[in-house]
Amino acid sequence: MKIGILTSGGDCPGLNSVIRGAVLKGLDAYGYEFVGFLQGWRGVVEERMVPLDRERVRGLSRLGGTILGSSRTNPFEGEGGGPEAISAMMARNGIDAIVAVGGEGTLTAARRLSDAGINIIGVPKTIDNDIDATDYSFGFQTAVEIATEAIDRIRTTAESHERCIVVEVMGRDVGWIALHSGMAAGAHAILIPERPVSIEQIAEWAVTVRKRGRAPVFVVSEGFRLDTMTEAHSHKGLDAFNRPLMGGIADQLAPQIEAMTGIESRSTTLGHVQRGGEPCAYDRVLATRLGMAAVDAVAAEKWGTTVALRGTEIRTVSLAEATERLKSVPVERYEEAAALFG
Ligand code: F6P
Repeated sequence: MKIGILTSGGDCPGLNSVIRGAVLKGLDAYGYEFVGFLQGWRGVVEERMVPLDRERVRGLSRLGGTILGSSRTNPFEGEGGGPEAISAMMARNGIDAIVAVGGEGTLTAARRLSDAGINIIGVPKTIDNDIDATDYSFGFQTAVEIATEAIDRIRTTAESHERCIVVEVMGRDVGWIALHSGMAAGAHAILIPERPVSIEQIAEWAVTVRKRGRAPVFVVSEGFRLDTMTEAHSHKGLDAFNRPLMGGIADQLAPQIEAMTGIESRSTTLGHVQRGGEPCAYDRVLATRLGMAAVDAVAAEKWGTTVALRGTEIRTVSLAEATERLKSVPVERYEEAAALFG
């Protein structure tokens, strides 16, 4: 059996741990052979791959990014795209199955290719933690740790200058990173896409905090909307899947807070720093387990499924179920955090 692994979509810490886990388990337990497609689906449609052996994956677990590279290429586009061309490419190279490590877009593409008869197993990854099939995706915990440290640092400078600071974190359409980093760092309010809030409410929180002699620190998820906005703020155009590139809502909020409260306000956008560097221990373990389980799923021919964390166990879930809906922050989780706002 020869397996092709790809890492696709926005990168995140832990991708290399998946590759290592899959290759080592595949070699030792099943005697499989591996190649890695370069730059995600782009390597599949352009037939660009490298051999992956024990030597190549040595010491990989702690390394950030992905040794295979990543892209947001759509595998249904271009000359080598689509199920027929991909099947032919696999046959030419003796590849029996693909392990696709990616987020919602990647798993949706994997589901369509699997429906067309290609042997695929998915592995969910994203710092956003928005894949419903899995309780947690690797990359998320590392992003939360990075954001928490940043908010802790922001707090000391905010206190020194008696300023309000709005810290923007990633997360696209869901507020998980904001919720967890905001709770961990004790932010005075957490603003998430699932719960639009008025600027008056935000200003009120700022004033309440200030009256206690503290400097208000707010965490806002990039997809957050004020109750007057119909869409999340985006001014950077579209990505390869025609989705708006987000970012910049903190820059919008800070001057409004200052105008309404008279409290000097600043904004900080953490951006891609949340996706960079070494995975934390939790993500290394989760990613390694998922990589190993993906190879077990290949051995069991569970085509059209993705491996996923359910409680403390790794299970397989159909790609159809995994891509049905996004995992957003439940109302109760928001309300729980909101009890401490202001
Ligand atoms: O999905 C992961 C993510 O980091 C989002 O949180 C963010 O909106 C997006 O990717 C950024 O994409 P890009 O790396 O293409 O700028």
